[in-house]
Amino acid sequence: MAPFLEVNQLACRFSAQPVLKDLSFTLAQQEIACLLGPSGCGKTTLLQAIAGFIPLSHGQIRLQGCLLSTPNGLVAPEQRKIGMVFQDYALFPHLTVRDNIRFGLHHLHHSRQQQQAIIDEMLELVQIPALAGQYPHQLSYGQKQRVALARALASQPRLLLMDEPFSSLDTPLKHVLYEEIRAILHAKQITALIVTHDKNEAFALSDNIGLLLQHHIVQWDKPAALFNNPASPDVARFLGREQAIHGVVATPDQIKTELGLIRLPPERQPWHSGTPLTVFLSPEEIALHKSTRLAQGKIIQKVFMGAASLYTLRLSSGLQLRARPTNGDDFQIGEQVGVQIAARYLVAFPRGEVVPEQFVQTPQRVTSAACYSGTLNGTTHKGAALNETRWSGR
Ligand SMILES: Nc1ncnc2c1ncn2[C@@H]1O[C@H](COP(=O)(O)OP(=O)(O)O)[C@@H](O)[C@H]1O
Ligand SMILES: [Mg+2]
Repeated sequence: MAPFLEVNQLACRFSAQPVLKDLSFTLAQQEIACLLGPSGCGKTTLLQAIAGFIPLSHGQIRLQGCLLSTPNGLVAPEQRKIGMVFQDYALFPHLTVRDNIRFGLHHLHHSRQQQQAIIDEMLELVQIPALAGQYPHQLSYGQKQRVALARALASQPRLLLMDEPFSSLDTPLKHVLYEEIRAILHAKQITALIVTHDKNEAFALSDNIGLLLQHHIVQWDKPAALFNNPASPDVARFLGREQAIHGVVATPDQIKTELGLIRLPPERQPWHSGTPLTVFLSPEEIALHKSTRLAQGKIIQKVFMGAASLYTLRLSSGLQLRARPTNGDDFQIGEQVGVQIAARYLVAFPRGEVVPEQFVQTPQRVTSAACYSGTLNGTTHKGAALNETRWSGR
């Protein structure tokens, strides 16, 4: 079956500056996919290209087999049947919740009565019927997000695009909303592409995740597969395994490291004895014990982080590691502790493959909601933050 959304060899540039290069992926109908990547890697640019706000310098975008964008032409954004929730929500400050949602329908030829029925349904769907007469400044971020979602869904889009939709929300609320938004998308049978820099958000929301690093999708996988089987050291680091320790294959199923012998994952076992490896670990994958029989480290820093503290330790080799053990023991600065690798899925790569640089993160550009401009009730409205956009000519 043909893919629902097909992005093929897409490239976008601003002036001579390439932002996305040779980007290809597909979404199946009703799939919820996330593109995950650091700030500045081109996530917003990609959504704007799919929504039809910016041209391509190379490649094509197809939706249900129909060509939407090529370097030679674009289908107008309002004709794409694509809904978008912007990072800043872009609600009109001078319109009520009801009229903000009505705006999502402005390009459709519904009667006033049909509009009211759709708006009421959307208010129910996102559980804010009591807020219909409120203005955006009277709403919390979570409520604004519901309005933005209702406005994007009101026109029954084929595809929903969401740009960092949870970045303004606090953690407990995010977790409620992840579940709720997935349920709404499933109920409405909507295909969605969400972009975020937050791996936990991508894990919680997606059927599949594409990891976008340095302008490319470096891995496209199910959340657990991406986390447990990163395709490269860069992927492992981005997903939280930022610490590298050297090892060498000792027996067909074991690696020798300065933290002792650890088991190689079965799929890696064809590696020959003597192969030099680098093991990538998150702080949660390092266990600490009050034991002198394990490799020893000295605690040199401790940061209280609630249920588990974050410790910095120095091993006898001088290597410093960060550990956030979850077994409940408490350690003090200056204490000698036993250090052990406690990874459920060991991530290791032959040493030659490991590129030492960390990611270079560029500052995030402020983007906004220029798309929502048009006419409602005979008045012309412009995107809530139109003056912040940097592209022009639409
Ligand atoms: N309109 C524009 N004009 C010039 N440069 C831009 C424009 N939009 C984005 N960029 C640049 O493109 C890169 C990617 O931006 P963006 O897509 O906003 O990244 P992300 O959403 O992943 O943070 C950044 O370096 C940004 O400065
Ligand atoms: Mg962005």
